[in-house]
Formats: sequence, structure tokens, C-alpha cells
Amino acid sequence: MQPARALLHTDAPAIRLDGLWQFRLHDRADVVPSAPALDGFSDPDYDDADWHDLPVPSHWQLHGFGRPSYTNIAYPFPIDPPHVPDANPTGDYRRVFDLPQAWPSGRSLLRFDGVDSAFTVWLNGTRLGDAMGSRLPHEFDATEALVPGRNVVAVRVQQWSAGSYLEDQDMWWLSGIFRDVTLQSRPAWAIDDVFVHAGYDHVTGRGTLRVDVEGASALLTVAELGIFDQPTDQEHICDAVRPWSAELPHLYDAELATGGERVRLRIGFRTISTSDGVLRVNGNAITLRGVNRHEFHPDTGRVLDVDTMRADVLAMKQHNINAVRTSHYPPHSAFIDMCDEFGLWVVDECDLETHGFKQIGWRGNPSDDPAWRPAILDRMRRTVERDKNHPSVIMWSLGNEAGTGSNLAASAEWVAARDPSRPRHYEGYWASTYVDVYSRMYPSHAEVARIGARVDDPLDDAVADAHRRSLPFVMCEYAHAMGNGPGGLADYQRIIDAHPRCAGGFVWEWIDHGLRQGDRFAYGGDFGEELHDGNFVCDGLVFPDRTPSPGLLEVQRVFAPVEITATSGHITIANRYDVRDLAHLRFDWALETADGPAATGSLATPPVPARAQVKVPMPDLPVHRDESWLTISAALAEDQPWAPAGHEVAWGQLSLPSGDLPSGDLPRCDRSVPDVVRTTSRTHRSPQGRPMQRLDDGIALGAGVFDGRTGALIRFGGFAVDGPVLDLWRAPTDNDIGAKLDVAWRAVGLHRLHERIVDVSIDTDELIVTSRIGAAATDLGYLYTMRWSSTSDRLDLRVNGDPIGDWPCPLPRLGVRMALPATLGHVGWVGHGPGEAYVDTRNAVRLGRFARDVDEMQTPYVRPQENGNRVDARWLSLVDDAGAGLRIDGDPVFDFTVRRWTSAALDAARHTNDLRATDRIYLNLDVAQHGIGSASCGPGTLPGYALTARPFELRASLRLV
Ligand code: GAL
Repeated sequence: MQPARALLHTDAPAIRLDGLWQFRLHDRADVVPSAPALDGFSDPDYDDADWHDLPVPSHWQLHGFGRPSYTNIAYPFPIDPPHVPDANPTGDYRRVFDLPQAWPSGRSLLRFDGVDSAFTVWLNGTRLGDAMGSRLPHEFDATEALVPGRNVVAVRVQQWSAGSYLEDQDMWWLSGIFRDVTLQSRPAWAIDDVFVHAGYDHVTGRGTLRVDVEGASALLTVAELGIFDQPTDQEHICDAVRPWSAELPHLYDAELATGGERVRLRIGFRTISTSDGVLRVNGNAITLRGVNRHEFHPDTGRVLDVDTMRADVLAMKQHNINAVRTSHYPPHSAFIDMCDEFGLWVVDECDLETHGFKQIGWRGNPSDDPAWRPAILDRMRRTVERDKNHPSVIMWSLGNEAGTGSNLAASAEWVAARDPSRPRHYEGYWASTYVDVYSRMYPSHAEVARIGARVDDPLDDAVADAHRRSLPFVMCEYAHAMGNGPGGLADYQRIIDAHPRCAGGFVWEWIDHGLRQGDRFAYGGDFGEELHDGNFVCDGLVFPDRTPSPGLLEVQRVFAPVEITATSGHITIANRYDVRDLAHLRFDWALETADGPAATGSLATPPVPARAQVKVPMPDLPVHRDESWLTISAALAEDQPWAPAGHEVAWGQLSLPSGDLPSGDLPRCDRSVPDVVRTTSRTHRSPQGRPMQRLDDGIALGAGVFDGRTGALIRFGGFAVDGPVLDLWRAPTDNDIGAKLDVAWRAVGLHRLHERIVDVSIDTDELIVTSRIGAAATDLGYLYTMRWSSTSDRLDLRVNGDPIGDWPCPLPRLGVRMALPATLGHVGWVGHGPGEAYVDTRNAVRLGRFARDVDEMQTPYVRPQENGNRVDARWLSLVDDAGAGLRIDGDPVFDFTVRRWTSAALDAARHTNDLRATDRIYLNLDVAQHGIGSASCGPGTLPGYALTARPFELRASLRLV
């Protein structure tokens, strides 16, 4: 095995050995007495015609050999280190390749960039060696075994190995050669390794460059800096370099040349510091607005092509994400090349997790057992050596959830000695004595505020406490994006922004790891696993096919690098970039009403340096009789490498109520549930309401027909309606389940309410229906009254409700539900949109007029759950293909969901393809829903967003359109 070294872009000849290999799978490893024959390895002429084809790179489980399995923490085998079960799927690989005649003499290395989990390599029958460390490169000396012409490389891969104990990350267990395999010529005068040290002095603007080279002596050229053919291993002071940052990622192209090889480098100058508890790069305090990224593709697992990696980087940049933690292993190195190029701060994490030992009280944890030290250090070394020349990498992470222990301390010590230029990160050790940032996952908002203010609880050890207090604070994971959510993200951001010690964090996580299975995405348990953790593997900001979820749009707004607010006649533009000014943005405004655009213009903005703000005067706006709203948008003035001109990076909005000029503060986009819900009213009912009429089949009031006995609305115009009833239920979200709210809700029977009509009274112009709902076996309930009246073409509804009893839990929702004909599938509304929003996830939606079909208004969470809520609708219309239907006006507003199935069907569904359209459209109009929170892993809904059982009033009026 060759020593770990940087992955170099060299002009030395190389052969990529990707493509179809011969493959066979044994169900047991090389154990006596059933050792699978080794002939395929020792004999280059072995006939492998009866083996199967398997692409490399790939995971064999995704090609019909064995099955994927998913566990979060649990080892899917007995904890018996370093042993693994005899039933250990073992894949044999063979590939023939021709060595070109022009292949240089001299050394050749065979490199594997990723093999899961343990493997042995033969070349032409000669065993080259074996390795473990799935997401790390391993090189073997192929020089002696390589022959002119036909060569045979053979690899035996075990699914389980001692290495599996160190690779207990929360993801699918997937095996095989899943990254590139390359035969690399190492010519005479080869460059063996390179370590670029490129610092930046933000006071003088000087760059200091030293390129250390191992192997032949090389000459360095950095044309842009006027460095030509200079010896390496010496310091170059470069006046006035352009530093590298995630915001302005300037790279200098460089070349190292020897008589035998040229190596291309991309150099970024930057200096990282953590003094005074503030994370700084080039003197600028930085805020990590990051995500955790696993490598995942719904068809290929952890095999990613370059286009997919690029798509991730571009989508992150476009959604205002500025940082990535490579959870929980070094990714394919092309991804980090792109982080250098497009600009993302990277926390590069070692391929190490031993979380399953937690389930046995960390007994025997490899992190603290000297026998495992070489293996743990080897992983750290391979991580750092491979990626040390990337300017985007600003921190090394020792691993994830590996408990504590001397091997982690040793790993940290090794990193400090090898690369003192970057801080060390590890979350699992809160005392933090051997790391350079204090890191936590899923702390509550309150705790983050305490840590930010440096009033968090002290450690017992005063020295350790003083050290920890001197460190910047990072949330390596927060805002768990499982299913509908995360809620409360803006609340975290406000705390982060208020405290210099808070260097930000990384939302968990980028992508749902749902494996495509026909017309649905599979999660844990869908492959018949003995142990599994269900859909906990689907907790990303993008769906498995990389479609953005509402959570990603929320991130985009909360992470926006510009904040636009308005106060008494001014618009305030705050630059939230840490490094760059706003010269690359243009600011346009638009005034709109429900009828469409009313006026547009541009804002002239003076220069705004990083972290500064300016005030610009409010443009002259025409006054409107009806509500209007001003949207100010910050968009790219010119193309950037990561998005075209016109791409919107931020926006702010001001609602101008009828006839008013702008005044007062622009409301923040988040809102808590008010205590008494929306009692203000513009009454639609005139004293002369339309009279009630008795029909054969009921009671007519305006365009409405009601059941004469129950008072339920059964028809509106020509449309069959199942009259509104009180609805308190929603299909629990993953975050509701994490908070055990589903248990509390089911215990009080919210999903199985019974109704009793208490009274139906009819006077000349008002129908009054009083009902009680409650569940079997409890005396809890709601008493509510619906008052119907009609004026001109409207049918007005006023619902008043009061809780009965002392409800022990918050309510999922509070409002009414009705069913309408399936033909009314086109929805229009004025309110917030166009996307889904809840009280604590409503930063991405803006006031506007929107139109969507019912089917487009469903968010396809991999495990179906409550979704698709629209907030603060002024009115809503549902029409058929001919444009006929009904419109419902709120007084003043309501939230709504509209779907082709019931909440019960949504609750019962396990996968998206379980949901089937019915012949009805179910419409919920709500005064409120309970917040979302992120209790699937982390804190629940903040108290201000909770929906407690309370008296309420909902007013709406219906008319035909
Ligand atoms: C963390 C862990 C992640 C993931 C997450 C929950 O504890 O580091 O790998 O499991 O929780 O989704």
C-alpha cells in the first residue's frame, strides 16, 4: 500500500478502468471451509465467462445482487469487533485491459478512490495488497505485476469488515467499487506529493506562497503572479493577491514541472483564524450558512457523476448556501474541486463513525481502544493528505458520532502537526479540549443564544472551560429537514446573527436518500431488512430526484445575503455577505394589486460594503383603493459562474393596506399564531339579508342549498358540496412524530372525531347550526356554531368555536373542511405563495396572486404527511376547465389546503404511490395550524408557533364565479 498523498491533476499517462467488469457474488466471505475459489485471482487466464457484467463504479445491491439495507445507528451485525458474521456478501471483480505500447517504463500505481468496505487487489495473478476505508483513496504499486499488452486486474470486496465498525454512518449500507479505478503511470522524475501553503495577510493584502513537493524537484509557475519556473519549497511573497473566499473564489492557475511530469494546481490564498471566539477567514468574520451533504443519487446510491456533483454545487449557490460539511466522509474529490471553483466553505470530514457502540454504552468503542489507533489515524491521514490543497476546505472534521477517546485525541494531534493552518472540528466531544471550534448538533434555540452570549453552563474543569469559551461556536447539524420542515430556521438565524461567537451551521441535510423503486422512492424497510430505521433516511432539503423541497426555499430566503426592510419612508438594504459588496446586484421594485402589476422601477443604491447597510428613499408609489404590495428584489446584474443575470438572491415585501401610503415597519415574514385568532372583521352582511326558502330537498339561502335536518351545506350553485365541518386533524408530519404529538393526538382521538348536531335554527335570513365534536372515550371536544346568511351574490359563513374541557396537547389545525366536485381542480388565490408555508416555515412565500392546479399543490414528501398549506389567503377560487366554480373570500384571511384525498388517506399512506385521487376535492380553511418545528431530530415547535385549543372565529363568504 502506498502512502497517502494529494490527488494531483497530472499529465502523466493514466488509464481509467471504469466500465463493465466481470462479477460474481458469494454469500460468505473467505471462511473455511467454504472459501470461494481464488482461481479468478491467481490465474490471469481463468475463464470468467459465466460471471455477470457489473458496471464500475457501482454498488452491487443496485444491480440485482443482494439488497440495500438502511440503519441509522444500529450495526446490522452483532457487535463483536473486529469480527463480522460469516454470512458476508463478497463480490469478485475481474477486468481485462490493454496496456498501450507507449506506456512509459517506470512505476505504475493502481488507484481505487472508493471501495466499500474491504478489498484485496490482484494484477495478473499477483496480489498487490488489501485495504479498508471505503470513502478514501488507496493506491497499490503495480509496477512489477504490470505486463505489456493484456492485463487482468481482479478485486475481491467484502461487504462487512473490521472497517464497517468505523463506518456506521446514517445511510444505506451499499457495497462494491463505487468510485473510480485508475492505472497511473509514475514516470521518472515524478512528483509524489504536493502541499500548497497559500496564506493571505488582510492587513497588507500580501499573499505568501510555499509549495512543498515530494519526489523529483519541480519548478513552479504561477503566471498571473509573475512566478515562472521557480524552485519549490521556498516562500514567495506576492504583493496584492486576490484572496480566495466562498463569496469571491479567486483561483490562481499554477503548474509544477519536472523533467517527467506536469501537475496543474489551482491555488487560493486565504488564512483562517479562530481568535476571540470568532471564525475568520482573511480577517473577515464569516457565518456558515451551510448544509450537510451525503453523496447520493436515487438510482446509483453513492456513485455520483460529475454532472450531478455540479448540479449540487450550483443548486447550493443558487439557494444562498455558502458552506458544506461533507457528512460523514470525504466526497468524490471532483466535488471539492467545484467548491474551490464556485465558492463554498467546506468542512471536510474523516470517514469515521462508531455510533452503534452508543447502544451498548460505548463499551469497546474503537475511538478509545489502542488496537484501533492505526486504523483511525490512517483514515484521518488519508482525508487530510488527499484534500490538503483545496482552498475551500477550511476545517478538518475528525469524524462523526464516534464517542470520545484517545484515538480521536491522537487524530487531532496528528492534524495539528500536519496542517496547523486549519481548525479542527469534532462534535462528539463537548469538552472540546483537542478541537478548535465548539461544535454541537441540534441544540435548542435557547441554548444557542446562551452559547452565543457566552453564558452557557461551565465545564467542571476550569481550564477546559476557558478553552471552550475561547472557541467559535458551530452547529455541525441543526434544522433537521425530514419531511415537512424544518420549522424555526429563521429563529436560529436571528440568534446566529446576533452573536459574533456563532459562526453559523449546517442544516441536516442536503438530500433525501430515497432509492427509486418503480414510481416511488424506497426507504428503510422496503428491502425486507431485519433491522431498519424507516424513512429517517429521507431528511433532505431536496427530494431524492433533487427537486427542491419547500424546506430548500425556506433556506434560500433565511440564508439570503441581503436583507431588505422598510421603515417610515425608507427602504433599508443590509448586506449580509461577509466579504463582498453589493455591486453585483440590481434592485428593482414592483407594486402589485390583485389585478396585476401597478408600477415598477429600479432603486439606485449606493455602495454597501460587507456587513453594512444603507437606507434608500421609498419610491413614489401610486395609492390604491384596494390592498397593494411592494416587492423589492435583489437580482444578479450580470451572469455569475453559478447563475445567470436576473437570478434573484433576495427580496423584501411591504403590504400596503387599502388606500394607505407606506408607513411603519415592513412586517417580518415570520409570524406567530395570535392568541385569539382573527376576530377583526369587515362584515359582508347587510341588515337586509336574502331570505331563506324551503325546498323539497332542503333549505335554500342565496346560491346555497342546505340539508333541512342537519343544516349542512349540500349544494352551492350547481356544485355538490359536503358542507363544512370542524376539522382538527392533520396527517402527522415526521416532526410531529418526533415530538410524539401523533401519539398525543391519537390518544384524544383527533383522527376519529364524531359529530352531534346540537341545534339547527332557522330564522328569516340566517341559518344557525350548532354542533359538538369529540372522540370516543373522551369528554374533550369543541362546541361550534356556523351562521349562514346571504347578501347579494354571497353566502356568508361565520364559525365560532369553543373548546370543551382541558385539552392536554396542542391541536394540529383549527378550521373547517368541506368536499367539492373533483372537476374544480384549478385553484387561484391572493395570499402568500406560491409554495407551501406554515407558521414557522413561511419565509419563502410572498404576497401575490397565484394560480395552480390542485395536483401541483401537493408536496410529495417521500413518506406522505401533512403538506401544501397556503397561508394568509385573502381569497381563493376553485374552478373547472371552463372557468366555472366558486370563490371564497376570507375576512380577513385564512390558511388553506386543497387535495384529492382525505387527511385519513394521507395519514395511512406509506409511499407517494399509495395516494389515489378520489372523486372529491377536500378543502380545508383554517384559522391556524400548529407549527412544524424540527423534532424529528431536535427541538420541537417554539412556543410562539404552538396552536393551543382556544376559542376561535372564522369568517368567509362564498360566491359563484
Ligand atoms: C445526527 C447524525 C446524522 C444523522 C442525523 C439525523 O445525529 O450525525 O448522521 O443521523 O443525526 O438525521
